[in-house]
Amino acid sequence: MKIIKKILEMQDQSDHLRSSGKKIAFVPTMGFLHEGHLELMRYGKKTVDTLVVSIFVNPTQFGPNEDFDAYPRDMEGDLLKVEQVGGDIVFSPEAGEMYPADSQTKVVVDKVTKHLCGLSRPGHFDGVTSVVSKLFNIVKPHIAIFGEKDYQQLAVIRRMVMDLNMGIEIVGIPTVRESDGLAMSSRNAYLNPQERASALCLKKALDLADRLANEGEKNTRTIKRSMEELILRHPFTEIDYVQLCDPVSLEDVESIDGETLVALAIKVGRTRLIDNKIISMKGDFS
Ligand code: PAF
Repeated sequence: MKIIKKILEMQDQSDHLRSSGKKIAFVPTMGFLHEGHLELMRYGKKTVDTLVVSIFVNPTQFGPNEDFDAYPRDMEGDLLKVEQVGGDIVFSPEAGEMYPADSQTKVVVDKVTKHLCGLSRPGHFDGVTSVVSKLFNIVKPHIAIFGEKDYQQLAVIRRMVMDLNMGIEIVGIPTVRESDGLAMSSRNAYLNPQERASALCLKKALDLADRLANEGEKNTRTIKRSMEELILRHPFTEIDYVQLCDPVSLEDVESIDGETLVALAIKVGRTRLIDNKIISMKGDFS
């Protein structure tokens, strides 16, 4: 497995691979890898010839009061994990390599960033789309693989790739969960045992929404209220948002008339966690 830190070297490698007819799968990450990341990598490895993984904690997607400095890092452990799933190249640039002092360009996606996490983390998606565009120009992948846990990120990147005709296939992989249902996330490492127990309220609230819709409840306000009550019965929780929305535009919906995205962001202690589920009304209740 090759470890590359310089942009020009990564671009040369990718040009070489492409000109020898190889297909490149790319998994961008911020490191502290868990089973969720490894699933994305396994998909890439089994689908095409060469798997490139980037490890870069991107400063521009963190707000001034967010956890950039504290974000968990474990480069040695990460390299072992990528090697174990058969990764071919790890691209892990320094921040100065990615953002030279005179850098002035941002990539901004409009409407789909104006909901959910876009409201509570202003500028976050501009940081994500800018760094992912740069990584795409550096790694030059044929396909890029993202987790569905970050549903809005996936929707934003799909929009960007379409709008800018990037010609990269974007693949979403279902959320990987711990055995008790908590969605895997690098930020789970922040939770103490009591908070870890409370964090199960995210999955329980999503399951409740699914059950209510299955039982014929169409009114999203009613579903949202029940979810919020369930969450707040768990200690250390603070609701950032609980939204039921259109899975493509991410605009709120009033009624469950087709597939609906239920998305939530909850602070458990000082840790902000997100999760989501697509629900629909099943059965005929007319
Ligand atoms: O999902 C992440 O880990 C990050 O947002 C990404 C896509 C690697 C961009 O920094």
